[in-house]
Amino acid sequence: MPKLIVVNRDGAEQTVEGDKGLSVMEVIRDHGFDELLALCGGCCSCATCHVYVDPAFADALPAMSEDENDLLDSSDHRNETSRLSCQVVLSDALDGLRVTIAPED
Ligand code: FES
Repeated sequence: MPKLIVVNRDGAEQTVEGDKGLSVMEVIRDHGFDELLALCGGCCSCATCHVYVDPAFADALPAMSEDENDLLDSSDHRNETSRLSCQVVLSDALDGLRVTIAPED
């Protein structure tokens, strides 16, 4: 099972594991991080699953859709490592990925 390192808004870091094929959002939510609201349930329409992704994994990440890009633009906290975690599916290539939960908008 791929590992995911999750950093919460207080800076605390926790390593969790998730099944391949689950989204990063689902893995974070299933491990009880209530800071990640994921209000739309993963339909790419709320942007409350915003995370910052370790740039070392940039090449292994799935391409960003126009919808995801537009939604991220609505955030005051977007930076070059921003992704919507519901749009990133866990795979072996992402084993050890470090994600930081972005501040609330
Ligand atoms: S959960 Fe709503 S956009 Fe990701």
